Amino acid sequence: ITSSTQKAPIRVAVTGAAGQIAYSLLFRIASGDMLGADQPVILQLLDLPQAQQAVRGVIMELHDCAFPLLADVFATDNPETAFQDAQIAILVGARPRSKGMERADLLHANANIFTAQGAALNKVASRDVKVLVVGNPANTNAYIAMKSAPDLPARNFTAMLRLDHNRALNQIALKTGRSLNDIEQLCVWGNHSPTMYADYRFATINGQSVPQLINDAQWYAEHFLPTVAKRGVAIIEARGLSSAASAANAAIEHVRDWVLGSKGRWVTMGVPSDGAYGILEGLVFGLPVVCENGEYRVIKDLPIDDFSRERIGITLKELEDERAAVAHLL
Ligand code: NAD
Ligand code: LMR
Repeated sequence: ITSSTQKAPIRVAVTGAAGQIAYSLLFRIASGDMLGADQPVILQLLDLPQAQQAVRGVIMELHDCAFPLLADVFATDNPETAFQDAQIAILVGARPRSKGMERADLLHANANIFTAQGAALNKVASRDVKVLVVGNPANTNAYIAMKSAPDLPARNFTAMLRLDHNRALNQIALKTGRSLNDIEQLCVWGNHSPTMYADYRFATINGQSVPQLINDAQWYAEHFLPTVAKRGVAIIEARGLSSAASAANAAIEHVRDWVLGSKGRWVTMGVPSDGAYGILEGLVFGLPVVCENGEYRVIKDLPIDDFSRERIGITLKELEDERAAVAHLL
């Protein structure tokens, strides 16, 4: 017996377990990419009744990987069974946007799912469960789940903006020819939607200012911002399906950094606002954070210039509208 088998397993609930994101995500969780190479996990998988057969196939494949860290795995169509004592809950299951579908259609189709799942988390999950919502519209789904779980700490409900953050990192690395690893202090404000604002004003590479290094305002406005904002749509157009492996990777990194720390680096998480930057309290908003000791801390008091105020205002308005559209359900 190695020391790796001696830590108590962590219970990780994943919804949408038969879907395409889960098909990347589950194997990486079970291999130790998310919680560490010495941390056993129990996977508690949720999907709809009609998807149970497919989930059984995924479980067969998980078994066939013979992952030493996979202490147990089971599937269910009952949220209360899936979330029982869960310490981490990754809510992926949702109706994905297909070609030509508007985000507004998604909002209504998904609001009921996240009301029910928030209530189930409230009832049976570990009291310090960390929740990551991936299923779109992710920010508002996270807000709905949070509001439906009044006995759990609101700050434990987060939405995934990490994919947008990684997309922005990649564009900067391509433009500068520098290593992704050296890029610091990037953030993406707001909603995981084309209104998001990828902000490189504070970003540095080995201490040098990224805007000064790039020194190309036209590239910033005409290439960087729209490329990052519309990347999800570009992938749907190209694949005929929404991003999956890169979304799973972002989910792994979001939870990994939240649990194990971001080592001083800024990362972007969608978190309930405490009112900073004039963002309505409670709205789940993409913000720059640093993670340490299992907690995230929002980077405060960054200067907001006129352009940024306008851009943050646009994505904020969209989230306020989404909130208003679901208010009657809460
Ligand atoms: P998919 O259609 O392949 O899989 C979704 C799975 O969820 C299906 O197996 C479905 O049966 C299941 N499901 C539906 N309703 C459910 C419910 N109530 N409870 C449990 N399971 C349920 O979709 P996918 O490609 O895996 O994408 C999942 C979601 O992630 C979509 O909403 C997509 O738009 C979103 N997404 C978000 C990001 C992000 O950055 N936040 C990136 C990519 C995709
Ligand atoms: C993405 O950013 O790739 C997805 O959120 C796109 C989508 O609408 O599913």
